[in-house]
Amino acid sequence: MSGVGESVLHVGGASPYDVVVGRGIADRLPGVLGDDVQRVAFLHAAELTELAEPVLTVLRERYDVLALGLPSGEETKAAEVAFQCWEALGDAGFTRSDAVVTFGGGATTDLGGFVAATWLRGVRVVHVPTTLLAMVDAAVGGKTGINTGAGKNLVGSFHEPAGVLVDLDTLLTLPREELVAGMGEVVKCGFIADPVILDLVESDPVAATDPHGAVLPELVERAIRVKIDVVVADLKETGGASGHPGREVLNYGHTMAHAIERAEHYRVRHGEAVAIGCCYVAELARLTGHLDDATADRHAAAFGAVGLPTSYSGAGFDDLHAAMRVDKKARGNTLRFIVLDHIARPVVLAGPSEEHLRAAYDVMAGGAR
Ligand code: GLY
Repeated sequence: MSGVGESVLHVGGASPYDVVVGRGIADRLPGVLGDDVQRVAFLHAAELTELAEPVLTVLRERYDVLALGLPSGEETKAAEVAFQCWEALGDAGFTRSDAVVTFGGGATTDLGGFVAATWLRGVRVVHVPTTLLAMVDAAVGGKTGINTGAGKNLVGSFHEPAGVLVDLDTLLTLPREELVAGMGEVVKCGFIADPVILDLVESDPVAATDPHGAVLPELVERAIRVKIDVVVADLKETGGASGHPGREVLNYGHTMAHAIERAEHYRVRHGEAVAIGCCYVAELARLTGHLDDATADRHAAAFGAVGLPTSYSGAGFDDLHAAMRVDKKARGNTLRFIVLDHIARPVVLAGPSEEHLRAAYDVMAGGAR
């Protein structure tokens, strides 16, 4: 963090914007929204009404504010919720120069971004993420979406925000389990791109998850920088340059994570599933000759250090294998995984054998190597 306790991380590309990381930074919103905006739709997780008050106060001083409380968690990512938001925007006469501000976790960001992307074919959106997971992942990079009966995020678009305000003070009231779950994506960023994240987590895991201290802000900032570098190089996930897999690397561990989430009917936290999925894919990389033993083992050590789960046996291999095959990252019948050749050296592993997939499952399920 800079001397004034605030950092500005710039996201380049065709629609550049800034991610401001600091504490108590609600008053930065008008500057991020710009001068043209008259009306603001404030889409917030309904249970965060009290936490949202300082942000609403800042907005009400400058704009006509339409505050819409949304259902919590994944329930908000539904066509009916998007429809209700569109109706409310229509009734309030929202024009192309008005804006959406989201306030909540990743589901709020995804739904709010989708509403902004689709209203009049796209209006400005500023994200104010309130969970660690949303700060380091959902709020940055422009992915928006809702779920259908067939799966998560099957309807959506890329719609980059006009800005992101990461107020670290919101982490002070975040339930401990949610904070720890968010570390799943942070540690993932360490493995795919920034080993300093791993050093910080391993050398002092307590400090790494202390929302009052100085280590967590550094981790948040480092993880956001990893995400920014990846999305600037490959916004639409069409592939990176010079052999880098591109945005797909952000899905490190996610193929198995999504299968576990499905098997658990989404009652497992995403970051927890990501931690297990990264350990699975590290073992797969070891079995297929990509990764050395020590680095594969480092996965369980790093995720485990902050209290994340590193094994799972709640569903059998056949069920998880079937779920992985319908993951939207699969191409045709070929399963694709991001694996590491080394820390910060991700590559695509396409079509591993069932024998390797099953052997990695056996280790994930608690079996010895
Ligand atoms: N959450 C993965 C991505 O933004 O691409």
